Amino acid sequence: MKKYKIAVIPGDGIGVEVMKEGVKVLETLSKLTGEVAFDFTWFDWGCEYYLENGKMMDDDGLEKLKNFDAILLGAVGFPGVPDHVSLRDLLLKIRQGFDQYINYRPVKLLSELDCPIKGKKPGDIDMIFIRENTEGEYAGIGGIEREGKEEEIALQTSVFTRKTTEKVMDYAFDLAKKRNKLNHLTSITKSNALNHSMVFWDKIFKEKKANYPEIKTAEYHVDAAAMYMIQRPESFDVVVASNLFGDILTDLGAALQGGLGFAAGANINPDGKYPSMFEPVHGSAPEIAGKGLANPIAMIWTIKIMLDFLGHESLADTVMKGIEGSLEMREKLTPDMGGKGSTSQVGEIICDIMSKKL
Ligand code: NAI
Ligand code: MG
Repeated sequence: MKKYKIAVIPGDGIGVEVMKEGVKVLETLSKLTGEVAFDFTWFDWGCEYYLENGKMMDDDGLEKLKNFDAILLGAVGFPGVPDHVSLRDLLLKIRQGFDQYINYRPVKLLSELDCPIKGKKPGDIDMIFIRENTEGEYAGIGGIEREGKEEEIALQTSVFTRKTTEKVMDYAFDLAKKRNKLNHLTSITKSNALNHSMVFWDKIFKEKKANYPEIKTAEYHVDAAAMYMIQRPESFDVVVASNLFGDILTDLGAALQGGLGFAAGANINPDGKYPSMFEPVHGSAPEIAGKGLANPIAMIWTIKIMLDFLGHESLADTVMKGIEGSLEMREKLTPDMGGKGSTSQVGEIICDIMSKKL
């Protein structure tokens, strides 16, 4: 039996609700198969913690997390705490502090019923975004000067290092090679307007491309890419993008696959020097929090990705079968899916289907 130490940060709002279902899925797998065991340590960091303690996480938070095999995160953000504080002082601190330079986000349609574009079937929408996750537009460099004056200015500087840009592109090319779809990689740019950072991005993409002659490629400006993702999503396989562009296009991707209730992700430190962190794409959705309305599928899909990364592909497949099976019981899904079910009922249904598949 393989044992894993997992740090659990449910965070705020629906993060807390969907996390319970994610953990339920892992406990079910452990009980049913005896193949894996999970030792969960819960951390109550987030906005409530901030309101009591003036900080989003403990000062030695990274030290406390560093020896776990993986980190699970629900979502952070709640009215009363500015979003740039909740995001920067917890999420970005972990992503940057643990050099999780890959943000891995699948966009995959499971059922025709959930796609807003008519006539699209599962298989037509099946792409993976590799988003640079520690620098770029989110490097946090800049400031506001002459505050309150007529001459007030704000500066926000992007940072693109050769080292990280190369590693992100290598990761994306390797994935395009490994994945059995089109062996195709799309690079998202905007080098017509961003004449330093994105010209640099394009240059490194061309250098890397020379090492992967078997991979077909495309380079689109981010605005055009948004259009093509709607017009011909089937032409996308692996996509590599900067921090900001990847953030925006993956919400568009979430819409293509049925909404944020489906969008899963991982923050990966491929070098294995630090733990990776697994979190759904959605936020804390304060307007539906505490009511049992949140769709737990994105969190459970995130668990599936964690199992893949820990090397348990067959358990990961079982989780996916659980998710797919639940989509056949529409009336039992959460309201965002048109059903009348609650967060915990959907979690139960998925665990139930998994136990029948094992
Ligand atoms: P959001 O993702 O929380 O919500 C956007 C919309 O999608 C809302 O209508 C919400 O009800 C719906 N939604 C999201 N997840 C859902 C789910 N699992 N089931 C059903 N419906 C779902 O994004 P929003 O509203 O922009 O931000 C709310 C808070 O979350 C803010 O404080 C923001 O900073 C934070 N946030 C945190 C993120 C994180 O922790 N990774 C990511 C995005 C936002
Ligand atoms: Mg986002």
